[in-house]
Amino acid sequence: MVEELVQKGWAQFPPEPALRDWSEVARRVALARIAEPEERAQWLQCEGTWFVGIDTLSNDAQGRVDGSPALSGIAVSVATALYGRLPLHRGQVSVIYPGYPRPRKGEGEGAFRYRQKRDAAHVDGLLAVGDARRRMLRERHAYILGLPLTQAGPGASPMVVWEGSHHIMRRAFAGALEQVEPRDWGAVDLTEIYHAARREAFETCARVPLPASPGAAYLVHRMALHGVAPWERGAEAPPEGRMVAYFRPEFGDSSCADWLNLP
Ligand SMILES: [Fe+2]
Repeated sequence: MVEELVQKGWAQFPPEPALRDWSEVARRVALARIAEPEERAQWLQCEGTWFVGIDTLSNDAQGRVDGSPALSGIAVSVATALYGRLPLHRGQVSVIYPGYPRPRKGEGEGAFRYRQKRDAAHVDGLLAVGDARRRMLRERHAYILGLPLTQAGPGASPMVVWEGSHHIMRRAFAGALEQVEPRDWGAVDLTEIYHAARREAFETCARVPLPASPGAAYLVHRMALHGVAPWERGAEAPPEGRMVAYFRPEFGDSSCADWLNLP
């Protein structure tokens, strides 16, 4: 499983009882949060077809939520084996509803087409900085852990990942960052090399959807190109939508080169 993540840039893990129990608690807590007007005002995007839900889950650093045990399971063990035990932030609860995607507020025609045709594919942590929206490494995530909270069919906007794209990205980022002090990486303009690497990934990597059920989990490599597939007409999902909790813990020390060099 460790090798799979390192080689392919993603790994899926079958349902486990402990995670199924955790996902039931998390789902209940998330639904209550999503019903709050302030949360909806902030996070309901794309004309009501996507609840973005950053920091929505009220878990602690070990993933305990509303009295649940700490987050556990094979995916967590794999991530810990590779990257050590990193404290968890409050989980993102990303919910997709029928009709996704609709344009996000302020999104131009080109960006919306990219959302429709290319799943709004991106690498996490490369934020668009300033008016010129230059891509810079502002968040150094170790990995992405996805934990489905509702039972949804394969047409209900699964995450999609470009298999092996993290190898392309790593080569590109290494070229730009290796000669720079790690603590200064956030100031390096990665826009051009990121866009070139993205084009290469679209041309040469398979696009793999990752639908999964509550109790299951998936890991996506921090440099893997990934996005969210459009909702297919007639896709199966409960009224509360296709709901996934995400954890993307960050490496704590910005003076070391872990983000670039670890597996
Ligand atoms: Fe992402």
